[in-house]
Amino acid sequence: MAFEDKIKELLDKRELAKLGGGQKRIDAQHAKGKMTARERIDLLLDEGSFEEFDMFVTHRCTDFGLEKQEYLSDGVVTGHGTIDGRVVYVFSQDFTVFGGSLSESFAKKICKVMDQAMKVGAPLIGINDSGGARIQEGVQSLAGYAEIFERNILASGVIPQISAIFGPCAGGAVYSPALTDFILMSKESSYMFVTGPKVVKTVTGEIVTDEELGGATVHGSKSGVTHMIAEDEREGILLVRKLISFMPQNNLEEAPIMPCDDPIDRLEDSLNYFIPENPNKPYDVKDIIHAIVDNGEFLEIHRHYAPNIVVGFSRFNGQSVGIIANQPSYLAGVLDINASRKAARFVRFCDAFNIPLVTLVDVPGFLPGTAQEYGGIIIHGAKLLFAYGEATVPKITIILRKAYGGAYDVMSSKHLRGDINYAWPTAEIAVMGPKGAIEILHSKKLGELTDQAERDAYILKAENEYKEKFANPYNAAKYGFIDDVIEPRNTRFRIIRALQALATKKDTNPPKKHCNIPL
Ligand code: HXC
Repeated sequence: MAFEDKIKELLDKRELAKLGGGQKRIDAQHAKGKMTARERIDLLLDEGSFEEFDMFVTHRCTDFGLEKQEYLSDGVVTGHGTIDGRVVYVFSQDFTVFGGSLSESFAKKICKVMDQAMKVGAPLIGINDSGGARIQEGVQSLAGYAEIFERNILASGVIPQISAIFGPCAGGAVYSPALTDFILMSKESSYMFVTGPKVVKTVTGEIVTDEELGGATVHGSKSGVTHMIAEDEREGILLVRKLISFMPQNNLEEAPIMPCDDPIDRLEDSLNYFIPENPNKPYDVKDIIHAIVDNGEFLEIHRHYAPNIVVGFSRFNGQSVGIIANQPSYLAGVLDINASRKAARFVRFCDAFNIPLVTLVDVPGFLPGTAQEYGGIIIHGAKLLFAYGEATVPKITIILRKAYGGAYDVMSSKHLRGDINYAWPTAEIAVMGPKGAIEILHSKKLGELTDQAERDAYILKAENEYKEKFANPYNAAKYGFIDDVIEPRNTRFRIIRALQALATKKDTNPPKKHCNIPL
């Protein structure tokens, strides 16, 4: 073959591979409002940075007439490229080839990029759009999934792993995303479930749609399976780029420092008057977050799930931090099962990847009741306690208002190796709120008081005494549990100073095979 013909053969093969399952199926994909696997990669990575692997790989199945249906790349596009100049590894499942179903060759391609991402120490981003195991390949396909799972597990805590779901993700296929650090789904085009609506109907009699069973809204608010919801694929891909910008390449590196034009000593006067005088009045803690972080930018994780706690990424003086904040405007910011699980997972991600934790506390305690106790709040609450207690990254805590009971301990207190613990003058640190405390401490006397006016006056006096003692930060500061009481308007500067001081912090946990976090 002449040299030019060889080049032509290569170029023709490339063109053919790029067609995936063919123009008709690409058109069908577009008609559903979905992008192709390669279009998604193009949008995800810096322009022109994608280097593709294994374009010429095909499946090896000879059953069910599959030998007559071969597509170059075999339904998944893999390789590496850059996001904001930093290397990432990617795979993007191609629904136009056998519905993006996973074959032995397909799995091998994914494993190859996973292995290389681990060697290089670079994040892995998987774009999922697949009908699951390639039915014709049987156990080969199941084996392929498990090979991927094992790699997800070994990579956990070593390189960041992000899964974007832009189509079906069903059956055992859900478990690779579930093993990764973050899942993102797009509205309407993506759904995830272990068993689909047909099986659900057969087994339980329930009649549900794909969307009702495993759409983005359901997983974003009810199950918490997805960390982020995008309006569409485009927004989703841009969100992945943003998410990656807060992370280091791997567990041995620090997150990149971004240029910061927001003055580090910017005073936010309104914060001095922000906390309502009435301790039971709610406010939106996100207003405080926006006021103190660089340029008000906060990338919220799990926005619609357990909104009584807020978690997400921001920067202080260009440095990436994880923020965890009780949210008084939802269930008074109480800690319940879902909030504890949500925050614990986030704290552990940040700790694994050297991202300092900034915790804003306004918590009335744990949510009481049988639903919580039967659901195991003891174990789930312990997750957050455990996560904070084992974290060795810089931990900065600001108590804004209430820090009551066990929740005071849990929320990155001094006693869990909190490095810098500040309080606003509005802080109230106590075993419980005044009402509950007086009922317990004075129950005998209250039982004796039959005259209502006399009783009310007694309670008022006792509550005032209690508030004087505990409804302030100074009692805790007296013991050194609070390092300083700070002016709220100066919070940004004090956090930045704390981060600077802690930049070289080193702390370790005792040697062990692994911990046994209460799961
Ligand atoms: C082989 C598959 C396939 C699969 C789809 N296709 N899923 N081929 N194995 N799992 C093919 C179809 O035959 C079709 O081929 C093309 O992909 C597009 O599929 P359609 O059905 O036409 O598309 P759509 O109507 O959009 O429906 C998509 C779908 C549906 C909902 C994903 O295809 C579906 O239900 N597929 C089966 C899902 C499933 O049960 N998978 C196994 C799950 S169990 P043509 O040639 O017509 O274009 C599992 C176990 C994993 O995954 C275990 C890991 C531990």
